[in-house]
Amino acid sequence: MQEETCIRYYFSGLIWIPFRIVYTKRIMVHNNFEKEGANMSFAITDKVRWVGKIDWELRTFHGEEYSTHRGSSYNSYLIQDQKTVLIDTVWEPFATEYVENLKKQIDLQQIDYIIAHHAEIDHSGALPELMREIPDTPIYCTATGAKILKGHYHQDWNFVPFKTGDTLDIGSSQLIFVEAKMLHWPDSSFTYMTGDNILFSNDAFGQHYASELMYNDLVDQAELYQECIKYYANILTPFSPLVTKKIQEVLSLDLPVNMIAPSHGVIWRDNPAQIINKYLEWADNYQENQITIVYDTMWNGTKKMAEAIAEGISAADSSVAVKLFNVGRSDKNDVLTEVFKSKAFLVGSSTINRGILSGAASILEMIAGLGFKNKKAGAFGSYGWSGESVKIIEARLKDAKLEVIEPGLKVLWNPDTESYFQCVEFGKAFVSQL
Ligand code: FEO
Repeated sequence: MQEETCIRYYFSGLIWIPFRIVYTKRIMVHNNFEKEGANMSFAITDKVRWVGKIDWELRTFHGEEYSTHRGSSYNSYLIQDQKTVLIDTVWEPFATEYVENLKKQIDLQQIDYIIAHHAEIDHSGALPELMREIPDTPIYCTATGAKILKGHYHQDWNFVPFKTGDTLDIGSSQLIFVEAKMLHWPDSSFTYMTGDNILFSNDAFGQHYASELMYNDLVDQAELYQECIKYYANILTPFSPLVTKKIQEVLSLDLPVNMIAPSHGVIWRDNPAQIINKYLEWADNYQENQITIVYDTMWNGTKKMAEAIAEGISAADSSVAVKLFNVGRSDKNDVLTEVFKSKAFLVGSSTINRGILSGAASILEMIAGLGFKNKKAGAFGSYGWSGESVKIIEARLKDAKLEVIEPGLKVLWNPDTESYFQCVEFGKAFVSQL
């Protein structure tokens, strides 16, 4: 096998250390990263190796509910101390590839413990294939995690339930378990590893973001934070009070954290506190100086209203960022991210069949589910004869426990000059009530 060598550097503590790496025709090694075809692994520390799957092709997640423009990864970690521990697995379609890849890292019989932080399929999907090879290996998880895993796979594996504060000695390191109920499932949990001071946080602090660069400081920061806030807005918003409480609980343990290793996206090694602080900010009824106008339109009457309302808002307050989205043509998760960032938002729809358009109905359903707080809302829409849309939107916003600025504005048919000015004034009045 042909070989060539070169000098690379890796960062250790506070100094850069040169080391010699070897390329072969088959195995590429760079920056502690090994790749052989689709199979990859990555040394994070002397004891911890990433053995997950980067999914560049993923475009929707949770079925079709969450768009993943930049793919994702399913992060699984292998700890090799005096005991060998596998943390989480990957999504089921990659189970065979994952187990075969793992066999290249280790004899599966040497795995002493498996930790299943979360039973959702994207992390537990390879367990059936893995457990066929090592059926008696204990699976550490929360008691709820064991119930959900049984519910998914109908297997009576050797579950070992843990609670917050339980520990597992694995040699020179100790693993400390932390239950993280409803972040974002009832079974969610974290593990802290002493020595290397790594918090394995599962979904929390993750991003649906595929990158072979692996670390937060190596990737495009705008992309990274866009995926982080989208992830928070669309997945974690309903659990914000629990996010704050859990972070404060973990911080009160006063444990040094060198890295946060989530189950999706890149690992936080550069100032990991930055994402903790962002989560605290986002969990605290987050808003920016932004108003988002979301509308669905049949023949552009409601669209013209949206544009005129935006004009009014900007005329009343030139400092506020106004963003318009035709929800029928926009990615709903991106729109929800913008609503999350807003101090107020408006929803518009034409009236159709005494109801509202399906795009508006869909986004209102998602807004209600996410339970946004500390945002004012309003409604508008054009109509031809019965004109129920504004009342329906207002009712749904109130059901979502949002403070609705009433009355909303409805315009007959296509806005004329008079109704254009009505819309502008409506936008100005909306701003004045924030
Ligand atoms: Fe990444 Fe809740 O699963």
